[in-house]
Amino acid sequence: MNSEIRKYWPQYKWSNVFAMIKNMKQHPRRHKEPFRDKLVVITGATAGIGYYTARKYAAMGAHLIMVNRNPQKSERVRREIAEEFGTPAEYVIADLALLADIQRVGQYLLALEKPIDVLIHNAGVHLQSRQETSEGLEVNLVIHYLCITFRRFGLNF
Ligand SMILES: NC(=O)c1ccc[n+]([C@@H]2O[C@H](COP(=O)([O-])OP(=O)(O)OC[C@H]3O[C@@H](n4cnc5c(N)ncnc54)[C@H](OP(=O)(O)O)[C@@H]3O)[C@@H](O)[C@H]2O)c1
Repeated sequence: MNSEIRKYWPQYKWSNVFAMIKNMKQHPRRHKEPFRDKLVVITGATAGIGYYTARKYAAMGAHLIMVNRNPQKSERVRREIAEEFGTPAEYVIADLALLADIQRVGQYLLALEKPIDVLIHNAGVHLQSRQETSEGLEVNLVIHYLCITFRRFGLNF
């Protein structure tokens, strides 16, 4: 194991590590209730895990709201989902590395008339070096942690 990783070992709680290993060995549990007309909000649905998760919920009949940063990719996914599954899919464009966008999305979601059944904070990046946003904040911190403060901006469920 490389020394860069080893230096963090003392910070791990072994109970958490064992719980994680136990959890990873379990078979995924399937939701029993139908998803038709349930509202699912997912961030970063234009690629990777988020894209396939969005498709999975759409295949089960859910109404999707995707929070993505790229309009062209978002439109492509929206059209694909509508054609393949016939379920409603909308998107909101936001760069979740920017606090103003996070706040705007929080307010948009708060103003929805329908309650949110599932919220998936998926958008994220894997950076090899420190990078800062135009607001001077570390990118990982904003996208992976501050983004879930949708709630701080008034979204409460
Ligand atoms: N894959 C793994 O092995 C792994 C392991 C541990 C954790 N994760 C976490 O799982 C999540 C998904 O991973 P993945 O492998 O599916 O990643 P991915 O293929 O790179 O997809 C990331 C998604 O997040 C979006 N995104 C990135 N930065 C954004 C921003 N500033 N604002 C809005 N959207 C943004 C991307 O949009 P664009 O299409 O516009 O780029 C894309 O839709 C991430 O949070 C990642 O950290 C993944």
